[in-house]
Amino acid sequence: MKFFIDTANLAQIKEANDLGILDGVTTNPSLMAKEGIQGKDAVMKHYVDICNLVDGDISAEVIATDFDGIVAEGKVLAALHKNIIVKVPMIKDGIKAIKYFTDNGIKTNCTLIFSAGQAILAAKAGATYVSPFLGRIDDMGMDGIDLIQQIRHIYDIQGFQSEILAASIRNPLHIIKCAEVGADVCTCPLDSILGLLKHPLTDIGLAKFLDDAKKFA
Ligand code: E4P
Repeated sequence: MKFFIDTANLAQIKEANDLGILDGVTTNPSLMAKEGIQGKDAVMKHYVDICNLVDGDISAEVIATDFDGIVAEGKVLAALHKNIIVKVPMIKDGIKAIKYFTDNGIKTNCTLIFSAGQAILAAKAGATYVSPFLGRIDDMGMDGIDLIQQIRHIYDIQGFQSEILAASIRNPLHIIKCAEVGADVCTCPLDSILGLLKHPLTDIGLAKFLDDAKKFA
């Protein structure tokens, strides 16, 4: 399973990348706004800064919601850097645009997926990545992991090539569950990635080893 970090914060991206386990980055307009990035030029520069930090797939989201607008914006984003993945919302014109991008060699991430039907359409259009938002499904009192599992099953029996990019991750258990059910990618906040490191028995065990090591130092 690939690990992406889900943030536009450069310090956090660098910290995750320095671990040596990072395969890419996802952003969205809310994450960009959270970093105080304002204006089209600043947004474009920020995407390039991220590409210069991480050698992996970097999702950059379009704002337009009509076919012509999505295509125009997507072309500008894709031209910024070879690693840019154009992130397109799961709407009717979004599906049309994903098919256009697929036919023209531009990689895409279909975002805001909340059902198996949406995931089927995105795969049919040739999306490189399909992003089910499992945390937001959990927030509704349903189980987001069930959706990841259902999409995995459908893609496997139908031979769809899109990669399942589990998004809206809230905690380390989400990451473990995504690995169990066969997500291709997990995009996670830094805290959830670092949470995987933790176990009290590791801390206790290391303290004892270091203490015993003093006896023969
Ligand atoms: C995915 O690409 C999105 O940026 C993200 O995972 C959304 O997560 P949220 O539900 O925490 O906003």
